[in-house]
Amino acid sequence: MTLRGLTRTHDAFVGYRLGMNLTVIDHPLTRHYLTVLRDRTTAPPQFREAARGLTSTLVLEATKRVPLEEFDIETPMETTKGYRFTNVVAVPVLRAGLGMLSAVLETIPNVKVGFAGVARDEETALPQEYYSKLPDLSDATVLICEPMLATGGSLSWAVDKVKSSGAKYVIALCVVTAPEGVKRMYEDHPDVKIIAAAFDRELNESYYIVPGLGDMGDRLFGTL
Ligand code: URA
Repeated sequence: MTLRGLTRTHDAFVGYRLGMNLTVIDHPLTRHYLTVLRDRTTAPPQFREAARGLTSTLVLEATKRVPLEEFDIETPMETTKGYRFTNVVAVPVLRAGLGMLSAVLETIPNVKVGFAGVARDEETALPQEYYSKLPDLSDATVLICEPMLATGGSLSWAVDKVKSSGAKYVIALCVVTAPEGVKRMYEDHPDVKIIAAAFDRELNESYYIVPGLGDMGDRLFGTL
């Protein structure tokens, strides 16, 4: 399949969803929480709670691929093998990615956190960096939390950022993805797996995902 030959329709991107860089989780809990997030009447406290619940289902899938360190552990009976997480770093993309952080902190043992601040220029939709604070990422497994994968500009920028700090293995956790963003990520970073709750139809003329859930940051933090 040649990427260049694909059109911008939803159906043309099913190949990405099924076999390439995107995995869409269809667990009943994921669908439940996504429905709460999509509902325009959901208020910020319930929206935050649903974002937390949904993210924990994405984390289970994403961490299937995380390498573990093996070590010896003493049970009350004898010595046996144990396993632990080492060097996993979560990087929420500010500000909407903060809505995914509490689930990551509660679920992943020993996780470290870096922050990447990027704003979308409202006219061009290009990413503008305004803050970045990353730990040493040498050989780390990095989970980037970017809930709305729209044009893909912010996520691609964040992946460039973590790779230039040494990250070798990068996974993106998204709530909703659009064909344009998935395609952009496949072209810029084909090694990065995207774990998401939805693959939506398209972007509108303001670069919002439809059907989507609106502005994730505004809905999380009540700034509508
Ligand atoms: N960011 C959002 O918060 N929502 C979208 O639909 C696209 C980008």
